[in-house]
Amino acid sequence: MTSKTLSKSPKPTEKDIELEAERLFSKGLGDLGYSEDDLLRCAELTWKINALKRERNAVIPAHVYQRAEILHGVADFIGDSYKLARLCQGNSAELIIFCGVRFMAETAKILNPEKEVLLPAPEAGCSLSESIAPEDVRRLRAEHPGAPVSTYINTSAAVKAESDVIVTSANAPKILSKLFETHKKVIFLPDEMMGKNLAKALDKKIGSELIVWKGSCIVHENFDASSIEYYRKIYPGVKILAHSECSPSLVSLVDLVGGTGDMMRYVEKTKAPHYMLITECGLGDLARTKFPEKTFVPMCRLCPHMRATDLKAILRALENPRPSSVIEVPSEIAECAKRPIEKMFEMAEDGAAL
Ligand code: 13P
Ligand code: SF4
Repeated sequence: MTSKTLSKSPKPTEKDIELEAERLFSKGLGDLGYSEDDLLRCAELTWKINALKRERNAVIPAHVYQRAEILHGVADFIGDSYKLARLCQGNSAELIIFCGVRFMAETAKILNPEKEVLLPAPEAGCSLSESIAPEDVRRLRAEHPGAPVSTYINTSAAVKAESDVIVTSANAPKILSKLFETHKKVIFLPDEMMGKNLAKALDKKIGSELIVWKGSCIVHENFDASSIEYYRKIYPGVKILAHSECSPSLVSLVDLVGGTGDMMRYVEKTKAPHYMLITECGLGDLARTKFPEKTFVPMCRLCPHMRATDLKAILRALENPRPSSVIEVPSEIAECAKRPIEKMFEMAEDGAAL
């Protein structure tokens, strides 16, 4: 069956919806503020999505920033950008309904060209991905001959195709430090803040040793470093964790800087009176449901791109997807983009240097 075929969604009985609402409640959605009506409304949709998903041999990967009813109601696996790219491979499903943003769905398509990949909210982009075009990468390469291009996964397939190795927040320090073993100069794009954080961590000079681009994340660039001291005073012992897309001034004041996966692992392994997760709000909601015994201090922002996906959009993608939801990557771009993604897998999992 292809996306052109309409699928009729099965009809749940009242009892089915009630049981499904109870399942959602048991996942901790009640503690996040979902009312009984909210749960019943979500339950009708999650029940239909899960039934159609089985019928169509579909899999639903979801990024940790997605709404809680998606993560707990319909996702087959959840994770950071790295984990999602990895888990989309070697999966027997014929159809991937990607709950995240376009660059993530494109990565899934590049790695699984034989599968149909749908992005329920086709407008879900990313400010970092939109900050750079393939011709910018070619220009940087010409300006810095011999410097390898390491590219954050938050980029278009066409930009990936111009790169030597892709990195994510989970492996950028490791991969860049390997690149510096054999190169005096490395290009990192497109996130300027993350580039500056990496330069500091690796003791490299911006401009001469690490060349960065001027992209930024509209969510993480806006967190305010000046409030950190105040929060430490009113929540003694609080552990403050920030995403590596935050500004260097903020990062210098926190207990951990890293990707969403690093932040979750830190919360799991430590015992602190309070935690503050400086990132998109979805991660805090997920942490509250996974660790109900821990206390989280709110300090988050919503990503409009990540929030564009909801249960109705997922059901529509399964029943009758909009043509713009179908992810296509021209084969010549996909082939060139696949190489640096696979290089990332190799280097992140201890392969040879470039
Ligand atoms: P992670 O790979 O850390 O989940 O980050 C993805 C992202 O878009 C951060 O804004
Ligand atoms: Fe892109 Fe920032 Fe949204 Fe992540 S949070 S998808 S980097 S705009």
